[in-house]
Amino acid sequence: MPIAVFGSINIDLTAYGTRLPRPGETLHGSRYALGLGGKGCNQAVAAARLGIETTLVGRIGRDEFGAKALGELRTLGVPTSGIYEDPESDTGIAVIGVDAEAQNCITVIGGANMAIDGSDVHRAAATFAVADILLLQMEIPLQAALMAADHTRQTGGRVILDPAPAPSEGYAPGVLARIDVITPNETETELLTGLKPTNPEEAAEAACKLRAQGVAAAVVKLGAAGVYFQDAESGGFIAPFKVDSIDSVAAGDCFNGGLATALAEGKPLGDAVRFAAACGALSTTKRGASASAPTREEVDRLLARG
Ligand code: RIB
Repeated sequence: MPIAVFGSINIDLTAYGTRLPRPGETLHGSRYALGLGGKGCNQAVAAARLGIETTLVGRIGRDEFGAKALGELRTLGVPTSGIYEDPESDTGIAVIGVDAEAQNCITVIGGANMAIDGSDVHRAAATFAVADILLLQMEIPLQAALMAADHTRQTGGRVILDPAPAPSEGYAPGVLARIDVITPNETETELLTGLKPTNPEEAAEAACKLRAQGVAAAVVKLGAAGVYFQDAESGGFIAPFKVDSIDSVAAGDCFNGGLATALAEGKPLGDAVRFAAACGALSTTKRGASASAPTREEVDRLLARG
């Protein structure tokens, strides 16, 4: 099976306004939306929307938001058999603000996502073992994520880690050697390397530091400034695609869903990163998280335009 995703499933409450509120401030917004989110869920939807077989493994609560998440996933054509309904936890939620420049800020209440443990890995061991690519993020406990990574790598699959949100103390020695590709943004790169890259040269230096921690490939996302990638054989910079952005929520998730899809289809790292960058850029042209994932046709059109 090409892609497995082990990660969070949330319901997002998103408020849109001219700007984000400051501490202590109340602002009038223009609209709100209640939709499917969670970094794991968004990455699974992004890959599935590109037409590749994708399985999502995660947890929700037995509550109204859990039922909504399952319903939306079924509508989007993502199989839900890998999702455990936890009677003791609430479904994860995220409270999100988006401003007129498409920037966002997010508070996540993990709920069932943070109750994930070795029993979930055991339950889905066969899924992880047959995955060509396993996508991980940091909205579930790290130990469970690494156990799943071991299953995938033992059978020859590759593991991509989106270190979001990144641990403020970085990773313990040996953690990055248990994955194959890491895809931090600028802030996460700074937490993991001490360097906050603003251009390709600084990103290259940070990528070297990440690879020195044991990961084979580093893909450093510079937001609207592009993406730098590096592995043992190649390195390079992908300039940003020009699009009309209205909402940047889940752009990184659509990037990772696209990266996993392209790598599973056999593209070399540089081509896969360009494909992923197009997916991320297109997601900013639509509102919402999972709902913003682009189709294969939209990605091909943007890639052809250059
Ligand atoms: O990356 C965007 C996601 O982060 C949102 O969907 C929200 O649920 C949080 O997990």
